[in-house]
Parts: sequence; C-alpha cells; structure tokens
Amino acid sequence: MKFSTAMMFVLALGVSGFANAAGEIIIKFSHVVAPDTPKGRAAEKFKQLAEEKTKGKVKVEVYPNSQLYKDREEMEALQLGAVQMLAPSLSKFGPMGAREFEVFDLPYIFPSKEVLYRVMDGEVGKKLFAKLETKGVTGLTFWDNGFKEMSANKPMRTVADFKGLKMRIQSSKVLDATMKALGANPQVMAFSEVYTGLQQGVVDGTENPVSNFYTQKMHEVQKHMTISDHNYLGYAVVVNKKFWDGLPADVRTALESAMKEATVFERDIAQKENDEALAKVKAAKTTEIYVLSLKERIEWHKALLPVHKEFEDVIGKDIIQAVYGIAAQVAKEHHAMK
Ligand code: LMR
Repeated sequence: MKFSTAMMFVLALGVSGFANAAGEIIIKFSHVVAPDTPKGRAAEKFKQLAEEKTKGKVKVEVYPNSQLYKDREEMEALQLGAVQMLAPSLSKFGPMGAREFEVFDLPYIFPSKEVLYRVMDGEVGKKLFAKLETKGVTGLTFWDNGFKEMSANKPMRTVADFKGLKMRIQSSKVLDATMKALGANPQVMAFSEVYTGLQQGVVDGTENPVSNFYTQKMHEVQKHMTISDHNYLGYAVVVNKKFWDGLPADVRTALESAMKEATVFERDIAQKENDEALAKVKAAKTTEIYVLSLKERIEWHKALLPVHKEFEDVIGKDIIQAVYGIAAQVAKEHHAMK
C-alpha cells in the first residue's frame, strides 16, 4: 500500500493513540457519513457508553462527515495509528488486501437481514476479522445500514436503462463488475465527493441505502430512485491493533461491553432510519421513487447473478458457499415453522 506524504509524517512520528494531559485515553473515531444516520448515531452511542463504562478513563472523539479523513485516507490513518477507530463500509476493505469482504457486495446474496446477521456473527465474520489481524487492524463488530437503491436523473426499470450511465461506486471490484453487468459505466469516488459529483454531472447516478442518500441531500440532485435492494451496505467497526492490544485489560473489557450494547442499538435503528429517510425523500418531492416489479426484478437477477461466479476465486468459494448454506438453513427453519 502506498501512503500519502501526510501519512508518512504520521508514520515517522510513530503515533498510535495515547493519553492526553488529563491522563485520559483518547479514541479518535472517524467516519464519513452524517451524524443522523445509523452509523453516525451508533458512534455517538458508543462514545456515551464507553465513557460511562470506563468511568472517564477513556474519551471518545467522534469525527463525522469525512471531517478528518475521506474513504481511502481513513484506512491509512487507522493502520498508521493517526485514528484509533473507524467503521468503514464492508466494500472498503478490498483495497487493503482483504478481498474476502467483497462477499457482502455480491448482488442479491442476502435474502434477508436474518441471513445477513448470521453471516456477520458466525464463522464467516470470524474469518474476515482474522484476515484483518494480518493488516494491523482488529475487527470488533459488524454494524448494519441497509440494502441499496439506485438513483439517477432518468428512470431505471429495465437493465437497458443503465446503458452508458456513469454510476458512482465505492472502491470494490464486485461493485464495479455489478455496474458493468448492468451496462453502466462505474466510477470510483469518495463518499464526501458524491453530492458535488452528481450536481456537476461528473457522474450520473449512484447506489446507497436511503439513509445515506437523504442525509447527503442527494435528493436535491437526483430525479429518480429505484427501490431495487440489489446489494447491501454494512460496516465493520475496526481499531488499530497495536492500540487495542496495548490497552489495560479492564479498559478493553469495558470497551467491548460498550461496543456490544452499541451494536444492539445500531442494528435496532438501521431499518427505522432508512424507512424514515425514504418518507423524507418522498416528502421532498424532488425524486420520483419507483419500486421494481417482480418481472423487472427477475431480469435484474438474471443480469447480476453471474457476478457471484466471477468472483469465486477472489472472495473464496468456501465463503460464498457458507453464505448460500446459511440462506438455505434460514429458509428451511422458516418453512418448518409454517
Ligand atoms: C459510501 O461510500 O457510499 C458508503 O460507504 C458511505 C458509508 O460509510 O455509509
């Protein structure tokens, strides 16, 4: 990985998190979304719980909205210890060499949140976090946001509607392949630049859960949204490993407990935040919302499912099969309950 000059400076200083003059341990928690999103609110919840549970030994400073770092920079900053905690979307771990995370980007792989949580909290999640340890990063938990919807300045109903559309994506090869499978022209862009990119026509459209769409005011610059739920956006809450391992054991235990509670809170509000955001987009009356019909959804499925196979070697066949297995298991349990 190449580091920017500023990051080299941080590296030279050997910063990895330390106590301030008052003797408090500082956790800088940087993220790229608005404070009133599932991730933004959960970061604040964690701060409150962490400070309470450590009886003031730890101070958590939350920096939302890419105030401190943009997408790629925040990953570098974490590895170098310039910040101690992040919650990047799962799509952002590929570029650091953890390509297994891209399983979460595969189109239509999670039939429900139940399947998703079992994947996150089970063996697959453990495997992904083990991979991070080799990168100087410790994974603490997974947070939720929601399934993604498409937006642009023209209606998107059939696959043909995507032909030639410049669509902003996160830096994930699976997302790149997904947009290409639809006939679109994907462009990687940092989250903080999407509003301006759409406004100035650098890109024509994008995909995100509605909570991100609304809180970044994308409805001001996108005339159409299709409720497609074609893929998923969630987060891994991660810390700098050296910092984490160096904490006094009682502090680490208290922080783990705070994170556990913050995760329950986060998963509880994620869907509600997205439902509320959708109601607000509707109320703004600037974006026409279209829900895919069954026939259209089937057409999208057909176009996108080959992406699973395409990434089998990169993500790992075992990981993809494990997700399919969990989905089948959940379906069986639901069937048995009927
Ligand atoms: C994006 O870049 O679209 C998202 O990852 C932003 C986020 O963190 O939810």
